[in-house]
Parts: sequence; C-alpha cells; structure tokens
Amino acid sequence: MAATFSTERFRLDGQVAIITGGASGLGAYYTQAFLLSGAKVLVVSASQNHWDETKQFAAEHSGTVGFYQIDITSEGAAAKIVVADMEQFGKIDILVNNAGIQIRNEWREYKDEDWRRVIDTNLNALYFLSHESAKQMATQGGGKIINIASMQSYRAGKFIFPYAASKHGVVGLTKAYADALAPDNIQVNALAPGYIDTPMTKALQNDQSRNEEILAHIPAGHWADPSELMGAIVFLASPAANYITGVTLPVDGGYLLR
Ligand code: NAI
Repeated sequence: MAATFSTERFRLDGQVAIITGGASGLGAYYTQAFLLSGAKVLVVSASQNHWDETKQFAAEHSGTVGFYQIDITSEGAAAKIVVADMEQFGKIDILVNNAGIQIRNEWREYKDEDWRRVIDTNLNALYFLSHESAKQMATQGGGKIINIASMQSYRAGKFIFPYAASKHGVVGLTKAYADALAPDNIQVNALAPGYIDTPMTKALQNDQSRNEEILAHIPAGHWADPSELMGAIVFLASPAANYITGVTLPVDGGYLLR
C-alpha cells in the first residue's frame, strides 16, 4: 500500500510567510519556528527593534528573513506590505497576524483615542492585511492565514475593553474569512495563547496573590514558556492542517477548562 502520510507534511520548506510583529515578543518565536521549519519569513514591524537578533538567528540556522518597517495602522499599509513581500520573495503562502497592543485603564478613565488605537491595530489592520494577502494567495492557488487571538477572545477583561473586543472580533473574523476563502483553498485559523512567561508578564507573575489566582486556574499548573507555542503555529501553517479551517486553537495548559 502506498504511504498516505509523511511527517514532511509538518514542514514548511519553500514557503513564504509574512509575520507582523515577528521580531519581538511572541512573534519572534513564531519567526524562529518557521525558519527552523524551512519557510522564508518577512518580518513586518513598526520599529527595527530586535531585527539584528532575528537576522543573526536566521544566519545561524541557514534561514532567510526579510524586513519591512511600517505602522500597520497607517493608510494603505496592507497593500504596501504585500508589494514589499512580492518584491523580496515573489509570493505569500502564509500570513501570521500577530502584531497587537493592549492599553489598560479603569472604565471611567478609558480614553476614546485608546479605544480607537487598539481596535485599529488588533482588528482593523488584521482585516485589511488578510484581505490584501488573500487576493495574492488566491492567484497562487491557496494559502494559510493565522490570526493571534487571546484568552480575552473568550473571557472579559475589565481594564482592557478594546483588547477584549478586538480579540473576540478576531475569532469572528477568522470564521467569516475561513468560510469565504475556503473555495480558494485558503485556510484561516486562530491561535489563542494562554498565560505566557514573557518579560511583559513578569510583573503579574511577581504579584503573589494574582499569580496564585492565575495558577489555580491553569490545569497544567504553570505559565507557558513561549517555545510551547511553536509547535501549534507550525502545525496550523503546514500542509498537515490543510483540512482545518475556522478554528481557534487555545494553547493554554487547559486554562479555559476552569
Ligand atoms: P509585543 O509588544 O512584545 O510585540 C508586539 C509587536 O507588534 C512588536 O514587534 C511591534 O513592533 C508590533 N506592532 C505593534 N503595533 C504595531 C503597528 N501599529 N504596526 C506595526 N507593528 C506593530 O507583543 P506580544 O506580547 O508578543 O504579543 C503579540 C501578540 O500576541 C499580540 O496580538 C497579543 O495580543 C498576543 N498575545 C500575547 C500574549 C502574551 O502573553 N504576551 C498572550 C496572548 C496573546
């Protein structure tokens, strides 16, 4: 009997991925995971922070990485990103909408401009870039879009109104585009990280009572190391996931179970 499966289907060799915010925070882990899986990556970010480390990582692992500096909320950014990618790599197989921001405040103090800024970054920019990239993917015969969601895609956040709204929106948009783009062989899924041990969450981890509360909520009993997201992002981007579309995959140590 001929083999119907190969672990090669988890590889991304020869594929080109755009990752917004791909040089810093969790995005840097997605970039590393893709480079190690054989993909070429265009990192899109507002600043050049951590570009050098990303370049160095690619060089050490014989990977190919390109960079494009732009504010993804600026006018016409989505089209410019697609043009920059086509100039550097000539195609788009995978888009990871990772760039995102959070602004905390008590409800009485919450500023209109902060609401708009978070929605513009986490939801509007994601919509526009998905739209532009999908047009190119459709002409290539298919592709993958992976949106980064959050535990606030499921739960409230009483100091982070636009963040919770945008991350709930990301799940809805993931489903709508999954449905719309399936005939063009474009799979659209989301990844929802749980509580991740990063420099940004150190303050929360060091707050003893909050930390105990959070840990009591995580069946796995520990914060995730960012590297624990790498398998899931590669899987969703790979041919092994070709029949999966419209799902949001929590990588949360079971947080949502309690
Ligand atoms: P980060 O703050 O470390 O990095 C964000 C990246 O996005 C940076 O590279 C920045 O340049 C880029 N970015 C932000 N606004 C931009 C803009 N207007 N134009 C272009 N680039 C822009 O963020 P982090 O924590 O790694 O988060 C990444 C994603 O993961 C976000 O969508 C966030 O909501 C999500 N997430 C993070 C969690 C965490 O524990 N850090 C947990 C769950 C979800």
